[in-house]
Amino acid sequence: MSVTLVIGSQWGDEGKGKIIDFLSPHQDFVVRFHGGNNAGHTVVNDYGRFPMHLIPSGIFNKNATAIISNGAVIDIEVLLLEIEMLEKAGINIKNRLFVSPRCHLIMPYHKLLDALYEEAKGKGKTGTTGRGIGPVHADKVSYNGIRIWDLMDKEQFSEKLAVQLSIKNRIIEALGGKPLSQVKIEELFLELREKILPFVKEPYPIIQKALKAKKKILLEGAQAVFLDNEWGTYPYVTASTVVTGGANAQAGIPPKYLDKVIGVSKAYTTRVGAGPFPTELKDDEGERLRKAGNEYGTTTGRPRRCGWFDAELTRFASDLSGFTSLALTKLDVLDEFEELFICTGYEFEGKKVSYFDGDAVFLDKVKPVYKKMKGWMSSTKGATKFVDLPKAAKAYIKALQKEVGIPIKYISTGEERSAIIVK
Ligand code: GDP
Ligand code: IMO
Ligand code: MG
Repeated sequence: MSVTLVIGSQWGDEGKGKIIDFLSPHQDFVVRFHGGNNAGHTVVNDYGRFPMHLIPSGIFNKNATAIISNGAVIDIEVLLLEIEMLEKAGINIKNRLFVSPRCHLIMPYHKLLDALYEEAKGKGKTGTTGRGIGPVHADKVSYNGIRIWDLMDKEQFSEKLAVQLSIKNRIIEALGGKPLSQVKIEELFLELREKILPFVKEPYPIIQKALKAKKKILLEGAQAVFLDNEWGTYPYVTASTVVTGGANAQAGIPPKYLDKVIGVSKAYTTRVGAGPFPTELKDDEGERLRKAGNEYGTTTGRPRRCGWFDAELTRFASDLSGFTSLALTKLDVLDEFEELFICTGYEFEGKKVSYFDGDAVFLDKVKPVYKKMKGWMSSTKGATKFVDLPKAAKAYIKALQKEVGIPIKYISTGEERSAIIVK
């Protein structure tokens, strides 16, 4: 068994890209298996600084083959721009990146509908990334999707597009939008088709062969457990399956091969978009965290909401997803906080409650119970050894570990690949 899965354990942007880039030099395959370019995974290494949206963040390991498997949804224009960005940085992509023909395509009407639905929902909007993620998944499960496979056959693509536009244009017009033109979309996609085809190849036999040969495979989760469509803070979630089991359906990897499941968590908590956030700091302290952590979205640039570490959430994420260890990121962001707070659980109407006891409306009303910790008031930036950390930082990490109940194996102390402690 040699499959490692990396999963976000909060509301996204935990630093999964950083951890994946760090782990990738030891991998034969790196796989993005769900979500789309709603993800923004930042990688900072010797090649530079890269916001990765679709291509696996492990691509910088020259010996690894990169796969975008069937569970991912593709905006071809974004994928091509990303290929261009990497080639400019000297990363060879040809014959190393394979995109599954099963992937559903994000079409122009998905992006338009994403915006129109959000507008129609008014105050109740989700705060999506606007990348068409909800609508493309809705089409997938209601048998209305267009896949890369369809694009490979021009006639099939044209026919399917005509059917979809006959449906979508009626909805678009009803919601006050301008109908889309078949001719223009066809022209654009036939041009994109030529550029993407060299990368299209069914990954199933490649992955099966790799599994049997005990090759090392790293699965790159996007989003996070609390954005999962089943277990997250619905309806303030994303459309795909984020949790461990998703690897079987979305990458064709049977659960028995999964060896390690690494949960990634910030040393505090952030969220972009709407939805409950029990430990959110709506005061100056939240603003301080945002500044110290440079908490602005990698994909949309939106300011992230910030709050204290919520062990109730991370414990749930760990139990649900079977984390074998935790990677704690952005410890250095807390360097100048005199006091820190860890949420150990929730209370509602004077009683202890859990994350799973209610829905998003309920979670908006729970009260976090805090344990106060001393800050360390000195720099941990770039630290690579646990023994070198200030006493109070060690105590903070140990307290988090105790609350979550699994070993913290990796501690990230800066955005660069080298700024990490392995315990
Ligand atoms: P992802 O979506 O989970 O990959 O995370 P993002 O890339 O969206 O956001 C994480 C941000 O934190 C990025 O700007 C990273 O470069 C940065 N980052 C990751 N780890 C650390 C760390 O340990 N310290 C600091 N200061 N920044 C980090
Ligand atoms: P990474 O992989 C943070 C959030 C959006 C919104 C909700 C639904 O970088 O951690 P969507 O566009 O998916 O329909 O939006 O999910 N969201 C993310 N938040 N990080 C992400 O990805 C996210 N992907 C989606 O902000 O609240
Ligand atoms: Mg991100």
